[in-house]
Amino acid sequence: MVAIAEPLCYREGVPKVVASANIALVKYWGKRETELNLPAAGSLSLTLDALRTETEVELSSGSEDTLELDGTAVSGKALSRTREFLDEIRRRSGRHEHARVVSRNHFPSAAGLASSASGFAALAVAAARAFGLEATEDELSELARLGSGSAARSIHGGFVRMHAGTRADGKDAIARPFLGSMLELSAAIAVVKAGEKEVSSRDGMELTQETSPYHQSWIELVDRDLLAAEHALTEGDFERLAEVTEGSCLAMHGNAMSARPGIIYFAPVTLWAIDRVRRLRASGTPVMFTVDAGPHVVAFTLREHLPRVAEVLSEHRDIDRVLTSGPGFGARVVTSEAG
Ligand code: DP6
Repeated sequence: MVAIAEPLCYREGVPKVVASANIALVKYWGKRETELNLPAAGSLSLTLDALRTETEVELSSGSEDTLELDGTAVSGKALSRTREFLDEIRRRSGRHEHARVVSRNHFPSAAGLASSASGFAALAVAAARAFGLEATEDELSELARLGSGSAARSIHGGFVRMHAGTRADGKDAIARPFLGSMLELSAAIAVVKAGEKEVSSRDGMELTQETSPYHQSWIELVDRDLLAAEHALTEGDFERLAEVTEGSCLAMHGNAMSARPGIIYFAPVTLWAIDRVRRLRASGTPVMFTVDAGPHVVAFTLREHLPRVAEVLSEHRDIDRVLTSGPGFGARVVTSEAG
């Protein structure tokens, strides 16, 4: 069981749920349906211990749902997404109360560091519990996906495989743990000095899907990459995994760059960090890079090489800091009603 450094008991008696964000090795970028947020292809990720969100959901007598993130009341898009999510929980549980949601990220929010993944995974577990909705892990993953596609993966720890599914109701568009990896990866996350990203992954994905001439080829590539990545993990083949992971990342960004207008998530320092990772690997350090919908670079490596990789990545002045992390657990309740 993971030790929570600073237990946050916001409100006496309200259970607190912790979920960790995940970073995909084989990326999700495209939907087969937007209403239920169904992915057009599968994906494969690693849940990371250091990127944690803590969430509490309490039923309230108020006339609307409220959301507090990192001590500040949230309005606008983030609040509407949370309310829509809670509507679904109300529909499934047959209850009508509103809720007070209090959440805290232990890493920079909305900067392309997958905070919607840990956020909606934690919310799914905390809200299901608050509304007395009994749910299996598959159902929690399906619920989390309604909030954000990548959140379906954060229900689980370690390596996780998201399935695109084929059903129209989305019940099979869920994530499950990927077991049997012979590689245990850690991550160095080079956080680039930058404000909030300009194009959210949701909007970026939609524009890419609608306008990129390469989108269909990208979707077809994902299945091949998933097979190759799974094989590399079970064989413990780091080199092969690096080739697939970096290939999936660059193909995703190539596809996004080919949208009209092209979406460029990279900053100059992103390319610098990619180059450093490749040089390190060429000189014998097992390390590979990936980049999500932002400028930050995640370097996956083996635990013993983490300090060196982090040191190299922190050498550029445009890198704000380098976070390091081992694999994380799935979403879980860390305080009970009793305590
Ligand atoms: C680049 O899960 O944020 O991180 O389903 O629209 O909420 P929505 O998208 P989101 O997209 C994640 C995109 C990515 C790749 C990945 O995590 O697989």
